[in-house]
Amino acid sequence: MRVVPRINPSILAADFVNMQSELARIASADFVHVDVMDNHFVPNLTFGPQMVERIQATSPVPLDVHLMIDDPERWAPGYAELGAASVTFHLEASAEPVTLARRLRAIGARAGVAVKPATPVGGLFDVLDEFDQILVMTVEPGFGGQGFMPETMPKLRLLADEAARRGSQVWLQVDGGISESTIGQAAEAGADTFVAGSAVYGAADPDAAIAALRSTAARHTH
Ligand code: DX5
Ligand code: ZN
Repeated sequence: MRVVPRINPSILAADFVNMQSELARIASADFVHVDVMDNHFVPNLTFGPQMVERIQATSPVPLDVHLMIDDPERWAPGYAELGAASVTFHLEASAEPVTLARRLRAIGARAGVAVKPATPVGGLFDVLDEFDQILVMTVEPGFGGQGFMPETMPKLRLLADEAARRGSQVWLQVDGGISESTIGQAAEAGADTFVAGSAVYGAADPDAAIAALRSTAARHTH
């Protein structure tokens, strides 16, 4: 575990043609968030394992891979095998989420499960310990730069309460529209891990933006 609250910049907002220097700009981050999109699960396309392997070889910080793809049973283990520190697949896309999480852990990655804004989380309560992190999407997955959806916060509170009740160590992550003006309410609701694309890469000094986000989140963490 590195610093809490954790700030994971999303390279979706980086310049893909200059990935090496873009990665070097976020050396103070906890993880780099890597959005894999297949143009099926979401209406957008980024890159696959070949690119992620190069990011893994180049990044100064560990990889937090977010798979917005169909059939994660087929593809997710490959990302764990190439060395990603965490691999998160979508609950909506998975046939056997617990089986897949166990497989990812067996390979040596942290196993994450993500839910879209409209997906309920109650079904995860009894299997919380099968996961290392739960990602509550705070926008519809697919694109950076969208507005934060505050209506997802009650779901995060439910998860935080349930995790506390069970003494679970699961990390609660938020992704989408996280900025200086929204990170406080997500921290308040129980998030401990924050993905930020435009708020970090849109800043003149990404490392300063990371530090500012981290301290705002810390002020709202209880
Ligand atoms: C959206 C991706 C996010 C995205 C966040 O589907 O999963 O990780 O990069 O970008 P911002 O922080 O700009 O909303
Ligand atoms: Zn993401």
